[in-house]
Amino acid sequence: TAEEQELKRKIAELLQKQNGVLVAHYYTDGRIQDLAEQTGGCVADSLEMARFGTMHPASTLVVAGVRFMGETAKILNNEKRVIMPDPAATCSLDENCPADAFSAFCDDYPDHTVVVYANTSAAVKARSDWVVTSGIALPIIRHLAADGKKIIWAPDRHLGSYIQQETGADMVLWPGSCIVHEEFRAVALQRFRRLHPEAAVLVHPESPAAVIEQADVVGSTTALIKAVVSLPHPSFIVATDKRIFNKMKQLAPTKILLEAPTEGEGATCVSCARCPWMGMNSLSNLYEVLRYGGREIEVDADLAARARIPIQRMLDFAK
Ligand code: 13P
Ligand code: SF4
Repeated sequence: TAEEQELKRKIAELLQKQNGVLVAHYYTDGRIQDLAEQTGGCVADSLEMARFGTMHPASTLVVAGVRFMGETAKILNNEKRVIMPDPAATCSLDENCPADAFSAFCDDYPDHTVVVYANTSAAVKARSDWVVTSGIALPIIRHLAADGKKIIWAPDRHLGSYIQQETGADMVLWPGSCIVHEEFRAVALQRFRRLHPEAAVLVHPESPAAVIEQADVVGSTTALIKAVVSLPHPSFIVATDKRIFNKMKQLAPTKILLEAPTEGEGATCVSCARCPWMGMNSLSNLYEVLRYGGREIEVDADLAARARIPIQRMLDFAK
């Protein structure tokens, strides 16, 4: 609409004036993803978002995603202003892994290496030896297992057991899960695949094991997008937040994209394969934060210094 165009124009202007860059996740509204790219920013998975922030010279990082992404940006770029359209956008994995309880859990396994998913608070990261994202978890765990390390994994138990199965690593799992990916249903997916035998099945590893088992490709958001471009299949059944379709359609306009079935299809589904917290980012609150300020992400300096070590270890490993 004309109103949206005007809002986008104003956001672009404010970004330029404030020496800001927009860093968006693939699960945000497609209009935000497009705007990020049109204004010289990026749309990416959590690993690339972290990396982009450290490489870009802008003095303000506008993070359109969820809270942990803003915190990671601040931890890695203390000298930059980091703002978010809505800093209250959380993540069920982060919420269900409180730092105190997690620290006590780690104390029970003093000889274990602590590996945490990026979807955690700064305090949980500060208690860890390694931070990983879904895009780099497998090679890092393989590397640790080859060194004979025993591992504490938190917080996503589905991703944890997938990694355990793939690598054979000795892992203790924290019992967390993502409310969005937990809704994908294995039996319904089996039926759906029979209706679409030509389709490849793409699954984010935060999904339950019985869904992952049916996948042709399991991977991070970036890996799933790459699969749509590179595989010869005419269609894809996708088990992750459906706002990822925006990038998939842009890169592979002739491919047919189908949503994997979720719990309580239709009117009664809870997340409906859309992360409610990613959905808290809109063009209007993006405009507001740039126009009126505030909503700045701050991380206690001592905590940030400790959390930076395991995040930097991941970035160095990824090089
Ligand atoms: P990616 O790192 O694969 O983008 O995943 C982030 C996330 O929150 C998935 O739910
Ligand atoms: Fe967290 Fe799941 Fe939302 Fe990703 S999709 S941010 S893991 S709640």
